[in-house]
Amino acid sequence: MSIQSEKIEKLVRRREAAALGGGRKRIDAQHQKGKLTARERLALLLDEGSFEEFDTFVHHRCTNFGMDATHFDGDGVVTGQGTIGGRLVFVYAQDFTVSGGSLSKTMSEKICKVMDMAMKVGAPCIGLNDSGGARIQEGIDSLAGYGEIFERNILSSGVVPQISAIMGPCAGGAVYSPALTDFTLMVKDTSYMFLTGPGVVKSVTGEEVTQEELGGASIHARKSGVAHFAADSEQDAISTIRKLLGFIPQNNLETAPERPTADPVNRADDALDEIIPDSPNKAYDMRKVIESIVDDGEMLEIHQDFAKNIIVGFAHMGGRSVGVVANQPAVLAGVLDINASRKAARFVRFCDAFNIPLVTLVDVPGFLCGTQQEYGAVITNGAKLLYAYGEATVPKVTVTLRKSYGGAHIVMSCKQLRGDINYAWPSASIAVMGAEGAVGVLYGKEIKAESDPERQAAIAEARKAEYEELFCNPYQAAQKGYIEDVIEPRNTRFRIIRALTVLDGKREELPAKKHDNLPL
Ligand code: HXC
Repeated sequence: MSIQSEKIEKLVRRREAAALGGGRKRIDAQHQKGKLTARERLALLLDEGSFEEFDTFVHHRCTNFGMDATHFDGDGVVTGQGTIGGRLVFVYAQDFTVSGGSLSKTMSEKICKVMDMAMKVGAPCIGLNDSGGARIQEGIDSLAGYGEIFERNILSSGVVPQISAIMGPCAGGAVYSPALTDFTLMVKDTSYMFLTGPGVVKSVTGEEVTQEELGGASIHARKSGVAHFAADSEQDAISTIRKLLGFIPQNNLETAPERPTADPVNRADDALDEIIPDSPNKAYDMRKVIESIVDDGEMLEIHQDFAKNIIVGFAHMGGRSVGVVANQPAVLAGVLDINASRKAARFVRFCDAFNIPLVTLVDVPGFLCGTQQEYGAVITNGAKLLYAYGEATVPKVTVTLRKSYGGAHIVMSCKQLRGDINYAWPSASIAVMGAEGAVGVLYGKEIKAESDPERQAAIAEARKAEYEELFCNPYQAAQKGYIEDVIEPRNTRFRIIRALTVLDGKREELPAKKHDNLPL
C-alpha cells in the first residue's frame, strides 16, 4: 500500500470512529431511551447524501477534572451543511453520547461557525438540541460559548430563518438559544426544556415536580407557548421541520418558493355562504373556512395547542406562501387575550421579516376583560399584536366574517394599520361594541326607569334593533371606505388571491430608526 493510500485509509477509519460519538455503549443507551443519535437525526433531516460535515476532528481544550484524558473527535456536536428539498441549510445536532451534549467552548465555536456561514450566504440554520447545558468542567468558558451563540441568534434574527428542535433533556443555557430562534419543536415524552431540573427546583423551592410536569412537550406547547410544535416522535418533528421550510424563504431578501397547485384560483365554495350561524352568539369552526380557501385545503398550523382562540399558520394561496391569522369563534368566542395576542404578534412579525403576505380572517368580540387579564398586562400584550400589524409592510389582506368590535377591530389588521385590501362578508358587524353592550351603556337608565318588566324588555328590544340596523353590518365601514368591498363568502378564495396578486409589487417603507421599541 502506498503512503498516500495508508493516509486515506487512516482518514476513513478516523471518520468511522468519529461517527460513533461517545461510543457504542452510549449510543445503545440513547436508543433505549427511544432517541436517535445526532447523526441519525441529520440523516433523516437532510436530503439523502447531501450532508457535508465540518470540524469532525475538533477536540475540546479543557484540562480541568482530568478532562484532558477524554477526547472524542468532533466533541459533543455534529455540524455542517446539506439540503432540504434541494435548498441549502446549515445544521448542528448536539450529541448526547459525548458528555450529555453539554456545551464546551469548542462546541460553541463549531455551532457559531455554521451560524456565521448561514448568515454569510443567506440560508436557514437548524439546531437539533439534546444537551445538559453548560459543560460544568469548563466553567466560564462554557458560559462564554453560550454568549457567543446567543449573540449570533440575535444578529441572525430576521435575516435567516432559525429553527430549533428539542430532542432530549435541555437545561440551562441549552434552552435560551432555542428561545431566541423563530420556531421551537419538541418531541413528546423524550424532550424537556427547563432552566433548572426537578432536583434543583426541589432544593430551592421545595416543590416536587417531574421533568414532564416541569418542562415536557405538552406543557410548553399548551401552557407556556415556548414550543410551537409538540411532535409525536423524532421522525415527526423532523418531517415538520422539512414541511415548515417549504413555506419560508432562504433569507429576508428572498420570497418563499411557490408551490404549484391544481386547485383552481377561482374555486367557489357554496358552503361558506351558509357557515355563519343565525345567532351571533353561536360558534362555528374557523378552521373550516381556512381549509376552504387555501390551496388543497392544507395549512401548517403553528402553536396549534396554545391560545386556541386564535389560529395562526402557513398555507399556500394560488401557489404563493401566506401567513394566515384567524380568530377562532369555537374557542372562547374568538376573544383576544394575553396569550392569543402574544401568539399572533410573534407570527405576524415572522411573516413580515421574511416577506410572507398576511391573510387575516376576523371574527372577534373584543379583548377579554377582568382582573386576571389586567394583572397579566393584557394592555401591553394586546399592544404587541397591534404593533406587529401596524409595523408590518408585507401585503396584508383582511376579511371580516362576523364580529369586529372595538379595540380588537383595530388590532386585527384594520385599514388604519395600513391594511392593504380589506373585505367583509355581508354577515360582518363592524362597530365599537355588540348591540347588547351598547344598549346597556346608552339606554340603561331609560330601561331601568321603566317599572313594567314587559315594557322594559320591549324598550331594550327596540333600542337593540335600532343599533343593529345602524351598526351591526359592514355597510357603515364600506360607506366610509374603511373596507374595499363587501364580498360573497363563496368567492373568498378568489378575492383574496386576486388581492395578493395585485399586491405582489407592494413597496412600503418604515421611518428610519435604530430599531423599534415593541411593547415587551
Ligand atoms: C458536563 C454533563 C452535563 C453537564 C450531563 N453530563 N450534563 N457533563 N456538564 N452540564 C454528562 C453526565 O456526566 C454523563 O456523563 C452524561 O452527560 C449523561 O448524563 P446522565 O446524567 O447520565 O443522563 P440523564 O440521566 O439522561 O440526565 C440528563 C440530564 C442530567 C437531565 C441533562 O445529566 C442533568 O441534570 N445534567 C445537568 C443539567 C444542568 O444543571 N446543567 C447546567 C445548567 S447551567 P457520562 O460520562 O456518564 O456519559 C447552564 C448555564 C448557562 O447551562 C446559562 C446561560 C444563560
